[in-house]
Amino acid sequence: MADALASTLDGLTLDGARHRYSKIYDRVPIEKVLATAEKDAIGRTIVVGGWVKTGREAERGALLFLAVNDGSGPGNLQVVVKSETYAELGELKTTGTSVVIEGELRAPPESAKGQAIEMHATRVLMVGKCDGATYPIAKKKQTLEFLREKIHLRPRTNTIASVARVRSALAYATHTFFNQNGFLYVHTPCVTQSDCEGAGEMFQVTTLLSEAEKPEALEATVKPEEVEAKRAEVSACGGEIKSMKESGADSKEVKKAVKTLDKLKQELSQMESAARKIGGIQRAEDGSIDYSRDFFGGKSYLTVSGQLQVETYACALSNVYTFGPTFRAENSNTTRHLAEFWMIEPELAFADLNDDMQCAEDYVRFCCNYLLENCYGDLEFFAKMYDSTCIDRVKEIATTPFGRVSYTEAIDLLEKAVADGKEFVYPVSWGIDLATEHERWLAEEHFKKPVIVYNYPKDIKAFYMRLNDDNKTVAAMDVLVPKVGELIGGSQREERLDVLERRMVECDLVPEEYSWYLDLRRYGTVTHAGFGLGFERLILLCTGMENIRDVIPYPRWPNNCIS
Ligand code: 4AD
Ligand code: MG
Repeated sequence: MADALASTLDGLTLDGARHRYSKIYDRVPIEKVLATAEKDAIGRTIVVGGWVKTGREAERGALLFLAVNDGSGPGNLQVVVKSETYAELGELKTTGTSVVIEGELRAPPESAKGQAIEMHATRVLMVGKCDGATYPIAKKKQTLEFLREKIHLRPRTNTIASVARVRSALAYATHTFFNQNGFLYVHTPCVTQSDCEGAGEMFQVTTLLSEAEKPEALEATVKPEEVEAKRAEVSACGGEIKSMKESGADSKEVKKAVKTLDKLKQELSQMESAARKIGGIQRAEDGSIDYSRDFFGGKSYLTVSGQLQVETYACALSNVYTFGPTFRAENSNTTRHLAEFWMIEPELAFADLNDDMQCAEDYVRFCCNYLLENCYGDLEFFAKMYDSTCIDRVKEIATTPFGRVSYTEAIDLLEKAVADGKEFVYPVSWGIDLATEHERWLAEEHFKKPVIVYNYPKDIKAFYMRLNDDNKTVAAMDVLVPKVGELIGGSQREERLDVLERRMVECDLVPEEYSWYLDLRRYGTVTHAGFGLGFERLILLCTGMENIRDVIPYPRWPNNCIS
């Protein structure tokens, strides 16, 4: 049928709207159909493909009304199928059935509200049946929690499909913004031996455990009594040489015995090392795991941030950014934390904290504008189903400059709020790391818009942030937004070698282990700054979705790594 459909339809579809890479059916994306002006659409015969959202039989089974969606947008196309066109109407109507339909576009009857166009099927191909009795998401309304367990089928739902479109649009907006502003896209590694945030929340990457599970790893173990026996052999051989020398034995004979002793000693050392293989894992002499035997020859991790590596490119190419997955083994079961999340990290050379803040603000506002222009239908969906304020919020962010306040001023504001009766779970005083409730109060209740808090106490921030002249604060900045709290964390970087080394020691880091990073300060150091935006938190902000687990296709959190 595919070929026949394609040939009969040639030239009949909406001008230029056919999907370039769906020649098999020559279908038109449903979003295009719905976006086409009535006068250009009505009377045209086209092909669409998609999954049945709902099916309703009428006129005692002579007619079927299908709502079909192909993921190209939030809207469904209403398709009317007559029993003359497709005999088994009953098998088409189940939610989840995949269909390809040729039909004529017509104006709907007066009674059909809110619909500009509908399709009257002339031919129907049932591509894949869907058994309503077993289809896990057949019911119209499922909870988001339930859908997280049916993770592979949840993109079929309106919510997750809208999230996917917004996510894709925001990724495109991100690349567009940085590209338009002269930033180079750099791919930083997923596996690293450096802990960027120094928080020790890294997932270790190792092949030692799978090696240890191999039967031969355990077989190879040398028993303590075998080592003891070899040690006795070495000792006896040593004693023999001693008495040979004392008795003035022939030097050739002594030499031969010494050679034997060397060989025995070598064997002993190998046996001692082999005996330190405990449970199939090699230990060093002090009992610690010998990572020189691991895949990368040292202890390695999944990255928590691409910042340190992207800095090396900023310090050569000026303006760069990285955008990739990052991993944190923090045991946070919150609606704002994932164990695997995506982060956008620009790094600007010849730039300070003010440039950094301006870039962060412009980038977020650009993204909001992009969504308003390109994903309005999806935003309307979120406003209707999840958060009635979401469109207004996105519009306001797009048009209003962010607030700016120093950490010290922010603490003053919070303390004043407490004095006026506001109750927080976590007490407020200068030096605390702001909790989400404090961040949200600042953004939602005080500023009523995104606010950038800058110059944080050095003791609660990472080693690489530039020390301010007061010796108490660092040139850090966090962008706090309504609904979410912290969206962005960034800073001007410490470009002075001696200060950076001192800060590393203060933070219990070993400067020698970061020698490559320190080289950037040794050779042509430069004032530079950057930030990291949590991509899923940006999606929460724009959609009003409540839980971060619903805005990434495959969420990972403690005890959850489905599919
Ligand atoms: O504030 P963070 O830890 O900053 C950094 O990693 C810096 N190295 C960035 C830089 O300057 N290049 O993380 C940045 C952002 C946070 O503001 C937050 O939005 C997000 O990453 N984030 C998380 N998102 C989801 N789940 C988690 N567990 C997150 N941890 C941080
Ligand atoms: Mg942070």
